[in-house]
Amino acid sequence: MAVESSAGDPRAEQRRAAAERAVELVCDGMVLGFGTGRAAGHALEALAQRMPQGLRVQGVPSSSATEARARALGLPLTTLDEHPRLDLTIDGADEVDPQRRLLKGGGGALLREKVLAAASDRLVIVVERAKLVPRLGTTRGVPVEVLPFAWAACARLIRRIGGTPVLRRGTGGTPSVTDNANWVLDCEFPGTDLLDPASLDARLRAIPGILETGLFWSFDATVVVGEPTGVRTWGPE
Ligand code: 5RP
Repeated sequence: MAVESSAGDPRAEQRRAAAERAVELVCDGMVLGFGTGRAAGHALEALAQRMPQGLRVQGVPSSSATEARARALGLPLTTLDEHPRLDLTIDGADEVDPQRRLLKGGGGALLREKVLAAASDRLVIVVERAKLVPRLGTTRGVPVEVLPFAWAACARLIRRIGGTPVLRRGTGGTPSVTDNANWVLDCEFPGTDLLDPASLDARLRAIPGILETGLFWSFDATVVVGEPTGVRTWGPE
């Protein structure tokens, strides 16, 4: 996971301040989900700073990058095998709509992130103000994790339901590979489909070969928003 310096970057400073607030929700003895991305990275750092004060927690990482960062910070790790139920997951998001529905997967960790969110009693999302959108899909397409064997067939069927899929590629032009050895299609939906993320999510996941989507519409997340004027907590306290 890239380590983000927030000095002089207002959005990064908002992310860091929100992450520090989110970590205040962590109590001694909790088993956590560790999200992926810059906001989640700030949360790991804030958590590591609380450890010398006697905080005892352990976490399940949502990606290999997060696992490496948590190890480097000395945070104890565990697995879903040992803890199939988590107390709380702290993660970032690419977009949050007015009903606190989320678009995630910009960092390619959507499948494991959704597994951790579903395993958690509570999901806490850390974002800066610019991530708040009137409707999901405002700033980017919907990430969809696909089986490499099936990607072209999935892309054809996504086009049939009105989407425009683009295979995500890394530097060098080869497909980006997720931690689960799959590929990602970023799918624009120019019509009104994203007004009903639950329905679009169901239609996408009905396509064989699609393993998960970045539409996180069913989680009653607590959203911690870094604003230019301070940090605001939105949703369940
Ligand atoms: C990774 C994600 C991230 O949470 C999302 O991309 C936000 O990342 P960042 O905090 O770096 O903006 O969903 O799959």
